[in-house]
Amino acid sequence: MTAHQAPPPAPPIGVLVELTHRCPLGCPHCSNPLALERPAAELDTETWKRVFSEAAALGALHVHLSGGEPTARRDIVALIRHAAQCGLYTNLITSGIGVSAKLWAEMVEAGLDHAQLSFQGADEATNDRLGHYQGAWAKKRAFAAMVTGAGLPLTVNAVVSRPNLHQVGAFVDLALELGARRLEVAHTQYYGWALANRAALMPPRAETEAAIRLVEAAREKLKGRLVIDMVVPDYYARYPKPCAGGWGRLAINVSPSGKAMPCHAAETIPGLEFWNVRDKSLGDIWRDNPAFNAFRGADWMREPCRTCDRREIDWGGCRCQALALAGDAAATDPACSKSPHHARIEAMAAAEAEAGAGEIRWRSYKETVGA
Ligand code: SF4
Ligand code: FES
Repeated sequence: MTAHQAPPPAPPIGVLVELTHRCPLGCPHCSNPLALERPAAELDTETWKRVFSEAAALGALHVHLSGGEPTARRDIVALIRHAAQCGLYTNLITSGIGVSAKLWAEMVEAGLDHAQLSFQGADEATNDRLGHYQGAWAKKRAFAAMVTGAGLPLTVNAVVSRPNLHQVGAFVDLALELGARRLEVAHTQYYGWALANRAALMPPRAETEAAIRLVEAAREKLKGRLVIDMVVPDYYARYPKPCAGGWGRLAINVSPSGKAMPCHAAETIPGLEFWNVRDKSLGDIWRDNPAFNAFRGADWMREPCRTCDRREIDWGGCRCQALALAGDAAATDPACSKSPHHARIEAMAAAEAEAGAGEIRWRSYKETVGA
C-alpha cells in the first residue's frame, strides 16, 4: 500500500440477496423499488452460488435470503445448500406463503439456520387486507408452526404504520403464541412503494410514541423469553438510524439482476454506478467500486455532521433519505434534528397523519413490469 492509498475496508458482516422481486403479497409498505425487476433478468443458480462463495471468501458471516419472496425461486434449496456449505449463516426472510411441508423439510435439510416471517397485521382481517392476499394469515401461521416444529429459531417481523400501529401489543402476544424467539417491530421506512404510499401510512406522533413506550415495557417484561427489536419511525426521531450500519461498512445488497449496492435504495442516487456481480467479484466491488466508497467513513461529511460527536454512531443517517427529502445525497439526513430540513419534514409527517387520507397503492408486479 502506498502512502496515498486508503486501507482496504473491513469485511462486510452480511450480504442481503434479493433473489427475486416476485411476491404473492402486495404490501403498500414494501421497500422494493417501484420499477420491479423482471424474472427474465434474475441471476441464474450458478451465479448466485458464486456470489455466496465470494461472500464467504470476503469474510461475510451471514447471508439473508430475501426478495420479493425468496421461495418463489425454484432453486431455493440448492442456493441454501451452497450457502451453508460455504459456512454462511443462512437466514430466510419470507412471507411464509407457498412454502409446502415438503419444501420446508428440504430447506431445513439443506442447512437453513433461521427464518424471519413477516406479518402485516396481528389478526386475520388486518393481516390479509394489508398483505393484499386472502388466506395469508392461515398460511403464515402454518409456516410458523413448521419452523418451531423443526426446532429452528423464528423471528416475527411486524411492519407497522398507521393502519396497524394500534396492534403493537397484539403483535407481542402473537409472537409469544407462535413460539418466536425474536420479534422485530419495524416502523415503516419510506422507500420504494412505502414512499409512494406515505400519506396513507404515516402515523400520528402521539400514537407512535405510545407504541414505542408499549414495546419498551414489553421488552423489559419479557426479557429472557422474547427478544424485541424495534425500528423507530424516522420522521419523528431526534437522531437518524445508522442506515445499513453505515454506507459500505457492514453490508452488501444484491438485486435480483445482480447489482451490488450498499443498501436497497442506493440506485435512487443519481451519478453512482453500481457494479454487477455478473462482471465483477464481490470482493472487487466491496473494495473498489467508487459507489461503495462515495459515502464510506466520515470524510465525505459536511456540517453539521462533520463536527458532530454522533458521526461515527449514525454515520450521518441515510443517504437515500437525504436525497429524497433534502435533494442532496451528501446532506445530513433530514430525520436528524440538527438538519435544517428537520422541522419541515416533521410538519409534513404530522400534516399527512392528521389528514388521514391517501389512497393505498398496492405493490403490484404487474403494474410496473407488465408481467
Ligand atoms: Fe448524525 Fe449528522 Fe445528525 Fe450528528 S448531525 S446526529 S452525525 S446525522
Ligand atoms: Fe440507502 Fe439508507 S436506504 S442509505
